[in-house]
Amino acid sequence: MNKAKVTIWVDEVKGRIDPDIYGHFAEHLGGCIYDGIWVGENSEIPNEGGIRKDTAQAFKELSPPILRWPGGCFADAYHFEDGIGPREKRPRRWNIWWEQEESNQFGTDEFIRFCRMTGAKAYICLNVGSGSIEEALNWMEYCNSSADVHYANLRRQNGQPEPYNVGYWSVGNENWGCGGPFDPEDYGKVYRRFVNYLRRANPDVKFIACGGGAEWNEGFFKGLGDRPYMVDYLSIHRYFHAGNDVDFSDSDYYDLMAQVKSLEDYIELTAKQIETFARGRKKIWIALDEWGVWHPQARVPNGLWQQNTLRDAIFAARVLNLLNLHCDKVGMANIAQTFNVLQCVAFTEGPKMCLTPTYWTFHMFKGHMGAELLRCETDSALTFKVDGGDLPALDLSASRNKGEITLTLVNQHLTEDVKVKVALIGARANDCAMRVLTAEDPRAHNTFERPDVVRPMEGEFEVSDGEVTALLPSKSVVLLEIKT
Ligand code: AHR
Repeated sequence: MNKAKVTIWVDEVKGRIDPDIYGHFAEHLGGCIYDGIWVGENSEIPNEGGIRKDTAQAFKELSPPILRWPGGCFADAYHFEDGIGPREKRPRRWNIWWEQEESNQFGTDEFIRFCRMTGAKAYICLNVGSGSIEEALNWMEYCNSSADVHYANLRRQNGQPEPYNVGYWSVGNENWGCGGPFDPEDYGKVYRRFVNYLRRANPDVKFIACGGGAEWNEGFFKGLGDRPYMVDYLSIHRYFHAGNDVDFSDSDYYDLMAQVKSLEDYIELTAKQIETFARGRKKIWIALDEWGVWHPQARVPNGLWQQNTLRDAIFAARVLNLLNLHCDKVGMANIAQTFNVLQCVAFTEGPKMCLTPTYWTFHMFKGHMGAELLRCETDSALTFKVDGGDLPALDLSASRNKGEITLTLVNQHLTEDVKVKVALIGARANDCAMRVLTAEDPRAHNTFERPDVVRPMEGEFEVSDGEVTALLPSKSVVLLEIKT
């Protein structure tokens, strides 16, 4: 049996993990909104004013901190006025990016209702590509104004007397691509014009600029000029794949795990660029506001639907551990996309719903939200092989919330179990709870017929002499909640 020690320095706080790192993203794409969230008031599927109850309840149980909407690429072709007012009067449009009809039955008011039902903060992506500053101002007035003015009055007319106070707005999406295509400098100039007006009308909201690769960011900062105060977050996106969704080889499995390093490099490079630009005058956070696995099975004709296996859940755990460790740079992250699309947390089909393995990773990591990141190390010698060499099989992060320590561990090895002894420096473990997400096969997944193939189980552990000893099965995500 492989053995390893994990040491947690209970008094060495490395930073605060922003809960928004555990955010989500929902776009008008495939079955994410229609079916996944919205079924309409007349549906036989149990709903609250058109919003289906099962997915809303399951989502709420994740304590989702923030939800980005309406896109994605869809956002830069979306006009919010299509989606407000009496539903029977709303125009149907062609969704140019995802090649489907858009009924506009789900718009701003419905989105805010979904956020309120689930506890998520609203994050809206503005239309820069085919929109205008005026339209953006109007949308923000509709959501946030308490004055006796046109768009706030429209909101009142639509049954919402109080402002929604939407606090997060991004100025376009992937404006180097579907939301443009701009040259980076041009986008920088457009961004500063948008924010000049929008900030004046909404001094307290956070603005998210569209970032990209190193060259794009450099050009964007040039176009923006010496105005770091105009940016609260710089957005980056990263998708990953290796082999198919279910039919992948063992080496594809390891390849995917190895790709987490490229995300770490991307975060570090972006943070350096931000530092060079802002020179300490403004804290600009990174918003990784789209991330996840994007398997070749997810294509436009099938609404980017793909299966979700234990491998994806393990991968999500690796990314979340990484984001915890970079909580001094990353202030928000949003996995793509909530329901039925890409690395979603649940599938629906008519009245049926099933939770994905990735859902359970988010569930198990909840204790990190808003907690203090602690110094935590392992001496594990277990590795796995990829083309570039040997990589550590054990991955982990630990945080503290009052007297409770959340330790999330990933054993990526496909065949080797590890017994870990967890020692706390500066405290003693008095009690512990353990959850394990694993299966016989990394290709294991949940279906409507067998929804519980991959779900957390109790694990094997022991607390003695102030330390915890726990068994990490191969290919598993493990949660230890340690009481001191
Ligand atoms: O998440 C799917 C798409 O991926 C988004 O619409 C776009 O922003 C990205 O390219």
